[in-house]
Amino acid sequence: MTADAARLYRHALEVLRENDQGTYTVPTKGLYPFQWNWDSCLTALGQVHYDEARAWTEIETLFAHQWPDGMLPHIVFHVHSDGYFPGPSVWDTGRPIATSGITQPPVAGFAVRRLFERSADREAAVRRARALLARIDAWHRWFYQMRDPHNEGLVAILHPWESGRDNSIDWDEAFERVPTEGIAPYSRRDTQHADPAHRPTKAQYDRYLWLVQHFRSLGWDNRRLHDASPFQVVDPGFNAILIRSATDLAALAEELGEAEIARANRARAAAGIAALETLWSDRHGQYLCRDRTTGELIDSASIGGILPVFAAIPQERCREVARTIERWAHKVAFVVPSHDPLDPRFEAKRYWRAPVWLVMNYMIADGLRAAAETAVADAIVQSSLDLITRSGFAEYYDPLTGEPCGGGRFTWTAAMVIEFLEAA
Ligand code: GLC
Repeated sequence: MTADAARLYRHALEVLRENDQGTYTVPTKGLYPFQWNWDSCLTALGQVHYDEARAWTEIETLFAHQWPDGMLPHIVFHVHSDGYFPGPSVWDTGRPIATSGITQPPVAGFAVRRLFERSADREAAVRRARALLARIDAWHRWFYQMRDPHNEGLVAILHPWESGRDNSIDWDEAFERVPTEGIAPYSRRDTQHADPAHRPTKAQYDRYLWLVQHFRSLGWDNRRLHDASPFQVVDPGFNAILIRSATDLAALAEELGEAEIARANRARAAAGIAALETLWSDRHGQYLCRDRTTGELIDSASIGGILPVFAAIPQERCREVARTIERWAHKVAFVVPSHDPLDPRFEAKRYWRAPVWLVMNYMIADGLRAAAETAVADAIVQSSLDLITRSGFAEYYDPLTGEPCGGGRFTWTAAMVIEFLEAA
């Protein structure tokens, strides 16, 4: 490792350690003072390089708060904090330790298989992976039961926050159908920690909260939420993560002698890969979201439609997506922007409407490498490290200038840097 790389590595460790709460890690102090679902799974991939046992604990803590129906909530409110809105009383999910009532991208199957492969203590890895297998499988089953009621092979999200790409342009049109009447008065906290011009707008926030209130009024009964939600979107990126996790869980289950879990997850992944094809757009050279309430594809070329390279999509699709990334790369200084830079709706500093996120870069580069698109994968990793070197461990970055945006000293950003440096 070069001296510069060693310095970045030390800095990444510092960020991970300062956000470590013992059994879980906060995404960053202030802005996000609790445990977030997919942040934790990806954070464990950084932790495993310096403390294997701690990495397993990160994911186990999350699964200790799985709902009886199988859902893994997007936030676990371990401690009291006024720094975040909407807090436990707004969600009011009635869980013994408060959680939110929606979920997040199911990256756990992928993360646990990778942890398993990286763990030197084999006895502990077998024991801990085995205990997580059935729980992850239950979460996957939950998705297809609750979010794919017509057996399409693809699941819907019911709230933009579930996608992990909160204010993506993908949701704008579908969001128009979400009312804003009757929401209780509220005061945002995010805009006190970060520049309001970089965050979702007030109109979007009203709708986020309307959905939360609506689901709460249905008692958070997942058997009712899908059909009752005015927002049902099939996100190719979200589904690709689920498919990849199903494939990885199946491989792990096979290794641990759990044939039934392996079979079920292979079947889910195969159905998902076939169904993803219905979201392909020749015009954009990538996948698009489908609005399940209208049945129409959503004309929005975002990173959600690039992310399917993370799953085992056909080789020629992967090639086409790689060419799309190259086209985007001509328009920006840093890749991968979270939206097509040629779209007039592109907003360089606003959260998921253009900025670069290192977790996305990590998953995309991983998929491209597996498909032998090595040059594009390498360019993405290089761009990621350049951003860190010049702008520190931010939440996300302006793709045109590299300016750091959102929260600082960000956990999953640091975890991804460790992964990139370890692989170099
Ligand atoms: C934001 C991001 C989401 C992430 C969370 C915590 O809500 O959009 O993906 O999980 O912050 O970092």
